[in-house]
Amino acid sequence: MSYLDQLFSLQDRLVVITGAGGALAGSLAQAYLQAGARVALWVHRTEACAPLQEKFSPLATNGQLFVTVADTNDANQVDKAFVATRNALGLPNVLVNAAGGNQGKSPFTDLDLDQFDRVLKLNLLAGLVVPTRHFTRIWTAEGVRGCSVLNIASMGSFVPLSGVWAYNAAKAAVLNLTVGLAKEFGPVGIRVNALAPGFFVGQQNRALLYQEDGQLSARGQNILSRTPFGRFGALEECQGAALFLSSDKAAGFITGVTLPVDGGFLADNI
Ligand SMILES: NC(=O)c1ccc[n+]([C@@H]2O[C@H](COP(=O)([O-])OP(=O)(O)OC[C@H]3O[C@@H](n4cnc5c(N)ncnc54)[C@H](O)[C@@H]3O)[C@@H](O)[C@H]2O)c1
Repeated sequence: MSYLDQLFSLQDRLVVITGAGGALAGSLAQAYLQAGARVALWVHRTEACAPLQEKFSPLATNGQLFVTVADTNDANQVDKAFVATRNALGLPNVLVNAAGGNQGKSPFTDLDLDQFDRVLKLNLLAGLVVPTRHFTRIWTAEGVRGCSVLNIASMGSFVPLSGVWAYNAAKAAVLNLTVGLAKEFGPVGIRVNALAPGFFVGQQNRALLYQEDGQLSARGQNILSRTPFGRFGALEECQGAALFLSSDKAAGFITGVTLPVDGGFLADNI
């Protein structure tokens, strides 16, 4: 094995990706499979299972891939998906919490409390707490070391993005919990890190970034004017950071870190 293969190969990793029908999750699935990991894709809705199986099978050799359903807001479904994954591929040692996303945008005084509650639950409970509690319970109970969690934070974790109140609150909590959990689980050999993507076009934010005619929205223009690279990210640009943080050799002493992948958005100034 070459030096780089030793450092970055993920052949000993079994990666569970939640929210696997999403844009970012799909890109990460491709990366992990190509890096040699076994990958379990947990999708929100049953009808998404077959298309994902078909899409990713060409990248998977030797039974590397398993697709199952899990609403990660539901602890019972997480438990079932974990058991099914373990039966199919073995004990997972990487959890990628990719379920999440925003819904709507409004002035604070017009806040829709039901929507606030849904977005908070999606990004905080389904997007981190429920699956992470399950995985860390099992890893600690079974004394498995060398496991890691990769959360998905956001620019809203660092600076509130206008009008997306619940999303900001949940993503700030993702950053906070990434640090807290790193401290909690460091002694038992579980690393907890996060990616903070800048602006990548996905189902959840397309309507905020583009008008119906395909032109940039005012918000889309505003974002690009504050992004030193002057463009949205391409999803593949998150792959290297995810592989790096998931490698127990390359990133074996890194925990509690939230790594921005943002074209310089957080470096913008006047
Ligand atoms: N796209 C971006 O620019 C961007 C930027 C920063 C952070 N993020 C974050 O990255 C993650 C993925 O975003 P994306 O752009 O790929 O969004 P996406 O909408 O394409 O994917 C999100 C996925 O989560 C799934 N999901 C929703 N509720 C779920 C539940 N209860 N249980 C399981 N799955 C559920 C959806 O079905 C969808 O497949 C999110 O946490 C998002 O906040 C995205």
